[in-house]
Amino acid sequence: MQENKAEEILKSLEEEYKDFSESLKEAENTKDVENIKVRFLGKKSLVSSTLKNIGKLSSELKPVVGKNTNVYIKKMEEELARKESRLKSIEFDKKLREEIVDLNLPGRKPKAGSKNIISSVIEEIEDIFAGMGFDIAQGPEVETDYYNFEALNTPQDHPARSLHDTFFISDDVLLRTHTSPVQIRYMEKHKPPVYIIVPGKVYRRDYDVSHTPMFTQIEGLVVDKGINFGNLKWTLETVAHKIFGKDRKVRFRPHYFPFTEPSAEVDVSCRICEGAGCRVCSGSGWLEILGAGMVDPNLYRFVDYDTEKVSGFAFGLGIERVCMLRYGIDDLRSFFENDLRFLKQF
Ligand code: PHE
Repeated sequence: MQENKAEEILKSLEEEYKDFSESLKEAENTKDVENIKVRFLGKKSLVSSTLKNIGKLSSELKPVVGKNTNVYIKKMEEELARKESRLKSIEFDKKLREEIVDLNLPGRKPKAGSKNIISSVIEEIEDIFAGMGFDIAQGPEVETDYYNFEALNTPQDHPARSLHDTFFISDDVLLRTHTSPVQIRYMEKHKPPVYIIVPGKVYRRDYDVSHTPMFTQIEGLVVDKGINFGNLKWTLETVAHKIFGKDRKVRFRPHYFPFTEPSAEVDVSCRICEGAGCRVCSGSGWLEILGAGMVDPNLYRFVDYDTEKVSGFAFGLGIERVCMLRYGIDDLRSFFENDLRFLKQF
C-alpha cells in the first residue's frame, strides 16, 4: 500500500516536471518565468505539498520521496535560473537598442541673436563724440510738462506745442517728445563747461514711412565760454562726415525751435537716389537728420547759468534717419517690425 503510494507520488512528480519543462520552453519573457516559478515551486505547488505531507509516509519511504522531490526542485531551480538569465540579457539588449543615442546626428544650432542696428549706430556715434571729449548723459522717458516744454522756453500757450503730437499720461506727465528735456536736467545739476550727448527713445503720435510712434534721438549740448555758431557748424559737419563719409553733402537750413536761437535743420544728401529725389527724401534729394541751434539764453534762467559768461549750442539727431541714409532703407517702420530677415542683414 505504502509502496504504491510512493510510486504514485514519484509518477506525479515526473508528470509535474514534464509540465514544467513544457511551460518553461514557451516562456517568452522574465515575467513568464516568474509566473512559472510561482506555479511549480510556490506554496501551492505539488513539490511543496509533497514535502509538507512527507511526515505521513513510512520511515523507509520518507527518504526516497524526500530525495526525489529535492532533485526535482533543484533541477527546476537551475533551469529557471538559466532561462531567466538568458531572457534578461535579451530584454536588456532590446532596451539598449531602443534607447540608443546616435552621436553622429548633427545637433540643432541655437539661433544667435545680434545687436540691433539702432544700438550699433548709437554706439558708433557715442564713440565719435567721446573722441571729441563729450560725456554721455541720460534722462527719463516719462517726463513732466516742465522739462519737456516749459523750461525749454515752450509755455502752455506756445504754438510750437501743437507740432509735437504728444502722448499725455496726465495733464502734467507725458512721454518725452524729444531728448531735449535732459538739457535742463543736466544743467540743473552741473555747472559749465558742459559737453554732453544724450542717446534715448522719444515718443510722438505719428505713423508713416518716415515716422514711428517711438524713435531714437541723440541730443547734444555744449555750454562754455565763447561758444558760437561756427563751433556748432564745424562740430556737426565733422560728425556728419564721420558717419556718412566725406562725399556726402551737408547743408544747414534756417529753422525754428523755441529753445534755440538762431536755429537750423541739417540735411544730408540722399544716398538712395543720389540727389535725384525718391520716396525716402520725398523727392527733394536731401534727408533731414537733425535740428540744432544756439541755446536760447532764456533757458539759462531756469538753471541759474550766467548768460553774460557762457553761451552754447544744442542739437537733436534722429538715429533711424541716420540708419535709413547709411543703409538705403526706405521705410522707417522696418526697424520696429522685428522681421528677423531684415534685422539679420546688419
Ligand atoms: N528737440 C528737437 C526735436 O526733437 C531737436 C533739437 C534739439 C533742436 C536741440 C535744437 C536743439 O525736433
